[in-house]
Amino acid sequence: MGYKITVEKTKASRLSEIDFNHLPFGKYFSDHMFVADYRDGDWHDCRIVPFGNFSMHPALSSLHYGQAIFEGMKAERDADGNPIIFRPLKNVNRLNISTERMAMPEVPEELFMNALDKLVSLDKDWIPDAPHSALYIRPHMYATEEFVGIKPAENFRFCIFTSPVGAYYSHPVKVFVQDKYVRAFPGGVGYAKCAGNYGAVMKPTREVQKMGYDQILWLDGIHHRYLQEIGTMNIFAIIDGVIITPALDQGTILDGVTRDSMIRLAENEGYVVQERDISIDEIINAYHEGKLQDLFGTGTAAVVSHIGEFHYKGENYELPPVEEREISNKLKGRFIAIKSGKAEDVFGWLHTVPVSVYAHQ
Ligand code: COI
Repeated sequence: MGYKITVEKTKASRLSEIDFNHLPFGKYFSDHMFVADYRDGDWHDCRIVPFGNFSMHPALSSLHYGQAIFEGMKAERDADGNPIIFRPLKNVNRLNISTERMAMPEVPEELFMNALDKLVSLDKDWIPDAPHSALYIRPHMYATEEFVGIKPAENFRFCIFTSPVGAYYSHPVKVFVQDKYVRAFPGGVGYAKCAGNYGAVMKPTREVQKMGYDQILWLDGIHHRYLQEIGTMNIFAIIDGVIITPALDQGTILDGVTRDSMIRLAENEGYVVQERDISIDEIINAYHEGKLQDLFGTGTAAVVSHIGEFHYKGENYELPPVEEREISNKLKGRFIAIKSGKAEDVFGWLHTVPVSVYAHQ
């Protein structure tokens, strides 16, 4: 069934207030947002409106019980100036995996894509052109039940806003391999992009940031031994020329779109890629044997971010200088070239916002 999306344009664009050559991550928001409300078993009032605050009831159930999920995507501009979005169908699919786990309603792919095309085309002048910048797209959904008590909600809001961003990390990332707290375990919600996964790591993250680390590399929740992910990124290791990344089958890590893209690019380049359990002991042994060539993270926000050093049980381990990391630099370069429309889209990853959508706005 088709959902009609109404459009109310802003009367006062904030575009001229932004310095597009010095963009921080996640601080500025474009002129419009998409909003839809779910009640009586369907999505209603699908609308694009000027970006702004919502008012809310203090008993809003998502605030208390955490039925809230989100996604992250990026739009850039191709050589002809058309907005291009990287693999959005992977995101709508993952959004609906998260909704399923969190007892939330599915967003039909057609509604998601129409909303995305309309929103990005309306705010296409907010897509930055500077290197490492993009228009970050944040679809999210939360329960809007006004109710005290634990039950799956029946009313939800789905919203998409966009934000012109620069690089998420501007330096090699220092990670602390966490062996005290855990992020996820089989049967839990590690694979869902739900708010609780992020809320639960704030205290451990603050602790390691006070010690000078940027992020936590999480180990599995049972043995405290096998690498999971970094929270903001999936993790890859390169040992003796083999690219290794934790498998998805435990349901404890996010099925990252950049992760999947890097695996496919690496295989296409002829590298051996292994999706499997990888223990911290294997990493440390490879380090001591001089075989650990690289550790890097992948994510929509972080793109491909090298790990500069990691800490485990009182020891710091320094990784080779970033410029020497031939394999990941090559894959990163190819990935960036494809997603920004500068290299041939051999995998069919780019969604070009149809000209017909924005020609009439
Ligand atoms: C993304 O990469 O899109 C994320 O959601 C990570 C977030 C911590 C910024």
